[in-house]
Amino acid sequence: MRTVIAGPSPGSRRFAESLAATMGARLVVVEHKVFPDGERYVRIPDPLESEVVIVQTLSPPQDSSIIEALLLADAAEGQGAESLTLTAPYMAYSRQDRRFLPGEPVSIAAIMKAFASAGYTRLITIEIHKEETLRYYPGEAFSLSPYRYMAERLRDKLPPNPIVLAPDLGALRRAREMAEALGVEYDYLVKHRDRVTGEITIEPKELDAAGRDVIIVDDIISTGGTIARAASLLLANGARSVIVVVAHALLAGNAVEKLERAGVQKVYAANTLPPKGSGLVEYVDVAPLVGDLLARVNAEA
Ligand code: R5P
Repeated sequence: MRTVIAGPSPGSRRFAESLAATMGARLVVVEHKVFPDGERYVRIPDPLESEVVIVQTLSPPQDSSIIEALLLADAAEGQGAESLTLTAPYMAYSRQDRRFLPGEPVSIAAIMKAFASAGYTRLITIEIHKEETLRYYPGEAFSLSPYRYMAERLRDKLPPNPIVLAPDLGALRRAREMAEALGVEYDYLVKHRDRVTGEITIEPKELDAAGRDVIIVDDIISTGGTIARAASLLLANGARSVIVVVAHALLAGNAVEKLERAGVQKVYAANTLPPKGSGLVEYVDVAPLVGDLLARVNAEA
């Protein structure tokens, strides 16, 4: 597999460049435009060999990114590709992974089926919201967890002897991976509501965060509400500092201001989405993780 195609969605080009460099592969950049009526256009300018990797992260505007990914599969087939891998570092719609109310779609299942029927035989993403949802993909599907890798890259920038906290029990695996790589303690946050005053406190289940430097680890910052609430309550309860590590810094609306106001000192995010957020957010290039996976898959084949 020696060609990596950089799709047009924001954030894809940098990821594709890094992946191509890791793989020693040729990089093909897609031509694209939006027609006056809003329809999308893509063109892969060069003939392709049989196996290619298309990098198209499903960044906002997510629906356009999805359509472009579908168009790219057809364009690649027209240029001779026979086996297509879609690398979508951020998998949009992955949080609608079940019918919360009758009549809702399982959105991630619908999107995955569409990618498979467009011709993608393999799907690679970074830290999908729930790994179980990969079963909706009819082909080969991988979600790569970035936290150990990020811990190695960030080790020198992080405070010595921090505690790593997940914002809830569901995210504990994420905190554990980060903490094990750093060799420090980890826990998850629990929310208590005082029945009399109605006051909410958020504190670690077992550990004491007072006087400690805290690293909160989660999969995604969307509106910033989850992390801002946790950070301001931890700081109010005596934590010395709060740093955040996430796979996907979506940072919708005024999320950056919200996090800054809450006292978050720094956000370290994987480069699955385009850079955003003044000096608050720093990005870690995780494309080599995809390169390693493809090397393993090819070696096994
Ligand atoms: C929740 O299950 C997720 O892991 C994130 O904690 C959540 O989606 C973050 O969203 P927001 O930034 O809008 O609070």
